[in-house]
Amino acid sequence: MENNKNVFESKPVSYWIDSTKNTYYEPLDSDINVDVAVVGGGMAGITLSYLLKKRGLKVALIEAERIINGASGHTTAKITYQHNLIYDKLIRDFGKEKALQYFKANKYGAGLIEKFIKEMNIECDYLKEPAYVYTQSDNYADKVEDEVKAAKELGIDAKYCKDIPIPIDVKAAVKFENQAQFHPRKYLLALAEKIPGDGSFIFENTRAVDIKEGDVCEVITQNGKKVLASNVVIDTHFPFFDGKGFYFARMYAEKSYAIAVEAEHEFNGGMYINAETPVRSLRSQKCGDEDILIVGGENHKTGQDKHTNTHYENLFNFAKKTFGVKNVLYRWSTQDYVTLDDIPYIGHLTSKFKNIYVATGFKKWGMTNSTASAAIIADMITNGKSEYEDVFNPSRYTPSSTGRLFTVNMSVAKDYIKGKMEPADIVNNESKIKKGEAEIVEKNGKKYGAYRDIDGKLYEVDITCTHMGCELSWNEAEKTWDCPCHGSRFKYNGEVVEGPAFIPLKNYGEGDNNKDANVF
Ligand code: FES
Repeated sequence: MENNKNVFESKPVSYWIDSTKNTYYEPLDSDINVDVAVVGGGMAGITLSYLLKKRGLKVALIEAERIINGASGHTTAKITYQHNLIYDKLIRDFGKEKALQYFKANKYGAGLIEKFIKEMNIECDYLKEPAYVYTQSDNYADKVEDEVKAAKELGIDAKYCKDIPIPIDVKAAVKFENQAQFHPRKYLLALAEKIPGDGSFIFENTRAVDIKEGDVCEVITQNGKKVLASNVVIDTHFPFFDGKGFYFARMYAEKSYAIAVEAEHEFNGGMYINAETPVRSLRSQKCGDEDILIVGGENHKTGQDKHTNTHYENLFNFAKKTFGVKNVLYRWSTQDYVTLDDIPYIGHLTSKFKNIYVATGFKKWGMTNSTASAAIIADMITNGKSEYEDVFNPSRYTPSSTGRLFTVNMSVAKDYIKGKMEPADIVNNESKIKKGEAEIVEKNGKKYGAYRDIDGKLYEVDITCTHMGCELSWNEAEKTWDCPCHGSRFKYNGEVVEGPAFIPLKNYGEGDNNKDANVF
């Protein structure tokens, strides 16, 4: 990676964010009344707010930081209802009717994106491409064949292939025609511009911390100001308000990585992902006059891998071997939530809450799932029901989720106990910590996370997660303290990067807690 040292040694930056303007919506500074409070300024929240405003409702969209800066700004942005190998599993676990509902909802989501792009003439590099899931493993060849059969049974235009148009030898692949790719921020910024006005708002730097339920709900923000609304939709990545829905026990967080490169060899178009691990995801993207290649993958559970830079290196080595690499332009990572049965939770937060909704757990397939969630919740609010709601019902029970419930929570318990008990990798002398590095330090029987910045200043924080008390792990690529239990992430000075936690870590170091930490 000699020629690409700078990209790999500097702060990871998403191509989508770097190639678009910043947003500057004002924070909420007084209590307001609207019809619907939408919490979370990603694809789900923006699409929903836009749809609701079009239907004549007054909406307040509130975002803890800046809109389209989370998962929607760090995606690979494939608009596809090909969600790896899913339809055979859906038919087996849920039955054909529900599998059909999942497919139709996502197809509808994909169609809605295309419709908005055409209606508003949004220049967002929208391009129709086929999507492939391929395998290089004999163990997955039959599964690919089963997926083709299942997809065809649902009416999907799916084809079984023995090879794919890029230089990867495969055992088998499934191809879906007529899928698409785009630039997600160009699209969502255009949609967001349509939201404010006529009694609707976007508020940034406005973190919701609680909801007081009632016929008119109160969404309470960190500065004490409230949004009063007859309906509330929680479109935050992880629900900031649980309402005894036990979302913390029913989802887990997964990190994945992407690099954008100028390739030496031509890329023949299409979007690709493999069925096995390590995950490799591919697509092209227009960047000025050039086509660049986005290579993603290397998924792992959040907070369970300290050497996060290795994942970028693995993607680079794969890209170099497969296409040749002239230059690495960008690298970034993202975090996604996965539910117990791989289907998002979309609908009433629990059966008790008739006017509080949630949309979460899109796995790696946020473009169509989030748009589908917006359509479903908009219909539930304005018509009382959606034709797609059943399969996504957050209160559902599926037999396949029982085993995963046990595994996920055993893993959380193990992470919790391991963090409390394990004495490994602890240093007792902060002077041993090099610039740009972090260690866990023990003083008077208590563990601290210590990071020394490039100026030599030491930041010491309590590494007990402020959500539910798990011990945090250092993420060397992003320079954050990450929680293995439910995916909260904190800057090295203790500020929250992403929830469910919203309370900062206690800072004991010489570094100024108010200084904006240069988070990677
Ligand atoms: Fe739940 Fe850290 S995110 S304990």
